[in-house]
Amino acid sequence: MSQLKEKDKQYIWHPFNQMKGADIIPIVKGEGVYVFDEDGNKYIDAFSSWWVNIHGHSHPYLAKALYEQAMQLEHVAFGGFTNAKAVDLSERLIELLPDNFTKLFFSDNGSTSTEVALKMTMQYHYNRSDEKQLFIALEDGYHGDTFGSMCVTARGGFNEPFEKHMFDVAYIPAPTVENIEAVLSQVNDLVANNNVAGFIFEPLVQGAGGMLMHDANALSQVIALCQENGVVCIADEVMTGFGRTGKMFACEYLSVQPDIVCISKGITGGFMAIGITAVSQPIYDAFYSDNAKHTFLHGHSYTGNALACALGVANLELFEQEKTMEQVARVSNTLASFVADYEQHPGVRNVRHLGAILAIELETEGASSYFNTKGKEAYKHFLTKGIILRPLGNVLVIIPPYCISDEELKYIHKEILAYLDK
Ligand SMILES: Cc1ncc(COP(=O)(O)O)c(C=O)c1O
Repeated sequence: MSQLKEKDKQYIWHPFNQMKGADIIPIVKGEGVYVFDEDGNKYIDAFSSWWVNIHGHSHPYLAKALYEQAMQLEHVAFGGFTNAKAVDLSERLIELLPDNFTKLFFSDNGSTSTEVALKMTMQYHYNRSDEKQLFIALEDGYHGDTFGSMCVTARGGFNEPFEKHMFDVAYIPAPTVENIEAVLSQVNDLVANNNVAGFIFEPLVQGAGGMLMHDANALSQVIALCQENGVVCIADEVMTGFGRTGKMFACEYLSVQPDIVCISKGITGGFMAIGITAVSQPIYDAFYSDNAKHTFLHGHSYTGNALACALGVANLELFEQEKTMEQVARVSNTLASFVADYEQHPGVRNVRHLGAILAIELETEGASSYFNTKGKEAYKHFLTKGIILRPLGNVLVIIPPYCISDEELKYIHKEILAYLDK
């Protein structure tokens, strides 16, 4: 065992890993779509390091922006102070987000961006002295690992040990062309009690649930019905944001905009953690008051960190300079050209594609699930082929940095087909 590996084993507890039997790979370098291990083996990062990487690893433009900001101002507390990069990033994001979003609240990661959205929703109703309490969420959804975000995540598996401490949530199926009438009727029944505070959803693609995809028009109808009944609608774009679905934000596919949108992962191009909760003016206005109790008393020490914000600005500059959305369209077309091969393959149960996301659900005994071990075996196999494909249960997912070449995508496709034919 290498020294790095040995010391890692001695000192570190890794996320989402059963440490008993865990095999942690030390990575010493990243460049473009590749990461390199200690022995010089290179791997295509086909899962964008948990869906965060946008332009490739250690991109020099982002590295320079980080260095320059560090030499100028690394951090100043955000409660009472601001910094130029936070303002610049906010101005750019407000420009990019759908028109109804007017204010941004900063936090630390995807989970805190949704946690903030949930707390804001609860306090929005509290500040207006109404009693709404229940949340609606989609079945198979995932919104993070802080307590509130865990409560609105699908039950079972991830959060079972905590269930008796969790608040009540009503789950509805992800809306599709086929089920929309039934879903609308279920939502109608729920809102009839005038008790529903919020509706949270991953727009169009439910990531951790297995890259499950639903219909934009059907989702718009559910949002509209909720809003007619005073329900705050929260789009969790933590995974879908920054081009993953083929548009900058998945909400651009919707005809009705939510009241709150949560973004994270891709904001800094994959360099640093940051979370942002964007709100519409009526949400902000419910907190804007002479009554001190109406203040949103939530914040983290590193909120609005100048280094992360500088990276956020540089990331958006790169989107323009490198015409990143054109790269997304190219990646999307190449992925689309693979779909028929999987549809015809007996080893594949279902294939789903949208934008720069391709999900290949493997045939397996019983229902598909995050805990299906088929993916673990596939993960190990693809490592030997120089590809990091981190499956979600029995679902293989290609969700690469957009700088990936067509040749590299075709190599991944070829290796997946070879694996299926084994
Ligand atoms: C839709 C969605 N929301 C929230 C999160 C949580 O983000 P983080 O891991 O940065 O806390 C994730 C992470 O995968 C996600 O996919």
